[in-house]
Amino acid sequence: MVQMKYFDRINELRAIDFNVNADTPYDYGQLKSSGIIAKAVTWILDHPYWWMKFLRNWFPVLQFGKIAFVSRNEDVKEILERQDAFSTPFGPDMVDTSGGVEAVLGMQDGPDYRKTKDLLAKAFTAEDINTIVKPLSLDIADNIVKKSQGRLNAVRDLITAVPVRICRDYYGYNIEPHEERDFAEWSIALSTMYFADFFGSEKLRRQSLIAAAKLQRITDRSIVLARSNKDKKNTPLSRLLELQKSEPDTLSDADIRGAMISMVAGFVPTNTMAASHMLDVLLSNPDALSKAIDAALKDDDKELLACLTEAMRFKPLNPGPMRFARNDVVIAEGKKHARRIPAGTTIIASTQSAMMDDRALRNPRRFDPGRPYSAYLLYGHGIHWCIGAQIANTQITQTLKTLFRQQNIRRAPGKAGKLTKWGAFPDRLDVQFDL
Ligand code: HEM
Repeated sequence: MVQMKYFDRINELRAIDFNVNADTPYDYGQLKSSGIIAKAVTWILDHPYWWMKFLRNWFPVLQFGKIAFVSRNEDVKEILERQDAFSTPFGPDMVDTSGGVEAVLGMQDGPDYRKTKDLLAKAFTAEDINTIVKPLSLDIADNIVKKSQGRLNAVRDLITAVPVRICRDYYGYNIEPHEERDFAEWSIALSTMYFADFFGSEKLRRQSLIAAAKLQRITDRSIVLARSNKDKKNTPLSRLLELQKSEPDTLSDADIRGAMISMVAGFVPTNTMAASHMLDVLLSNPDALSKAIDAALKDDDKELLACLTEAMRFKPLNPGPMRFARNDVVIAEGKKHARRIPAGTTIIASTQSAMMDDRALRNPRRFDPGRPYSAYLLYGHGIHWCIGAQIANTQITQTLKTLFRQQNIRRAPGKAGKLTKWGAFPDRLDVQFDL
């Protein structure tokens, strides 16, 4: 029977002693998928329109084994709204990588969930977006692009590099220059295990646990340094340490470490994938690209963000969030296509398909940056809606703006100019511009 790793396989993996720690050598190469099945899956995911449309029309709630794929806009929203019936399945993986602390995306709504989310909101404040994240992103990106001499691997050297430096300059992480790339790769390992390791690979879990140990160590080091910091820099990390002083019994160092790691794992890999996808879509569509360039040259961030958001609708992070059915449950009750889903099923609520559903969007295959925000499910829907959306929008807009302001920005010729991945995550897309 086809079944995802939730939760029998996860329990099997958790029973294995991987015997790894922060000094165990980490091998990013192990994240690379190879083989015919991986290639076939990649091809299917890269060509989603025809099969998603077919499913929406004929099998809107498709069940195969213990997996269900839900493709219509209203059904996808229903699943993401129904906390009573569905849980996110990420809890155990997130606990195992954060050092034993629960992360919001792995939790059900309730007092603990609210408390953790509230803590994050106090540390990563809304005011920081315009006062810190925006100028910092622009400055870091400008420096990188200026030094690039007219050609760069936009994924590694810009799109991934900027979030890492924001973890350093905004979050309050102590990251030495020689650790920047490692930091990115460790966070990518965590995200791969959470969101792209559907069947529970032992090889991948081992690397993720090593990466997690290294991220925990660098977080602990940053905590020690922030605590001894005489100039009292106002960062999310230092704010958490201040809060700890007023509630030492409820906010431990481990809680702070867990919170920071969840915001790193939510940020670096996700923004890498999102911004790479946006860039790739725009470079493939001259009209859309010229709209984005126009907005960038006019310094119209709102318009540029609209172009980027619309571009990502054509290539979101993945088919959609996963949910686990705790009990038997009926989806689309009262409708012709209603279907009972048995307990223990993992459901893919395909926001990607939902954003191409012509029952909900007008002319969905047209690039139209003027769509209402309700057309987008890029950041999820319902209680687990992304808490990093503002950081993401701001960081990515400022970063890609620097690229789009360059003369004659284009793909580099040959294979280097095509988006390639390392495992589930974008790794290379060379661009060039005139000096
Ligand atoms: C363009 C970039 C991003 C995209 C497309 C994105 C997308 C998403 C989606 C779809 C969800 C919901 C997942 C689900 O329901 O299963 C989510 C949740 C979340 N995201 Fe993001 N995200 C992005 C950037 C970020 C950033 C920058 C951070 C942190 C700074 C972040 C932190 C989180 C967290 C902590 C949650 C869980 C919220 C909760 O459970 O209440 N994300 N994100």
